[in-house]
Amino acid sequence: MPTQPNNSHLPFGDQRTAPWYGKDIISVKQFSREDLEYVFAVAHEMHDMVDHVGTFDLLKGKILANLFYEPSTRTSSSFTASMERLGGSVIPINEVKYSSVAKGESLPDTVRTLECYADVIVIRHPEVGSAAAAAKASRKPVINAGDGIGEHPTQALLDAFTIKEELGHVDGLTVTLLGDLKHGRTVHSLARLLSLYKVKLNYVAPDILRMPAELIEELKSKGVQQEEFTGLDKPLPATDVLYVTRVQKERFTDESVYESVKGAYVIDPKVMKAAKERMIVMHPLPRVGEIAVEFDDDPRAAYFRQMEYGLYVRMALLAMVLGKA
Ligand code: CP
Repeated sequence: MPTQPNNSHLPFGDQRTAPWYGKDIISVKQFSREDLEYVFAVAHEMHDMVDHVGTFDLLKGKILANLFYEPSTRTSSSFTASMERLGGSVIPINEVKYSSVAKGESLPDTVRTLECYADVIVIRHPEVGSAAAAAKASRKPVINAGDGIGEHPTQALLDAFTIKEELGHVDGLTVTLLGDLKHGRTVHSLARLLSLYKVKLNYVAPDILRMPAELIEELKSKGVQQEEFTGLDKPLPATDVLYVTRVQKERFTDESVYESVKGAYVIDPKVMKAAKERMIVMHPLPRVGEIAVEFDDDPRAAYFRQMEYGLYVRMALLAMVLGKA
């Protein structure tokens, strides 16, 4: 019969039997609806703690290795801020060209190196499956911060948290995903995560940037109501959450194809006249013209608040995998 580990030698608050202790976070498929409620509850507490005391020592002495093979502002800096607000510290590898990766070191060897120095590894890499490969090589928890056009699970978690915080619930909402749905790992992860709720999903994209057929089939098999459009006019009036994405230039091999679709949709005050008064516009950011700055002061523009919610969700995730939540 399995026995519970004796944790009596561990410091106060250490919960090594906690369900997420030592786990990797690679895909949103790992999360049940109950898990989401748990993450949101911890994130909520983190928000309160930051508001009241700013920084606290929940992860004092813990070290995060932040390994980014692709550019990032939000994910990289919010993981750094999360660790530091929880009293831990960070090994930042944001420019792999200055690490031994530039000498040809493999991903598994890089991960095996970092696990000697850190308690948790966050990785962003251009190849689908790279985070899973890193997790396989590592004894320490690995968190996927984006693997090519695959997944971006922590972004999807913060997106769902944003919806819940802003609108109070997720069930019953109509969520319209707009832009580069082919390459957008954030929309792939978010659509999967939202399939845990009773939502209607609209997909608005140019023909060549449609949501992958396999993902539509996957969600169909779960009974999710989905509809595809090439224009925003029809779905916008019934939309509760408009999730806008950037056309990802870096994923195109032919620049002329990128040029032909890059300005397909622009959200501005005029377009938004057709939308509900109580709804939100989200964007994982960075934006490159798909939301006009003139819309930023509209109360429905939730994309800057969304970034802040990301801090609390990532604080929650770090505490969870390090056995402190
Ligand atoms: N949303 C997001 O992943 O932003 P960064 O690329 O700046 O991390």
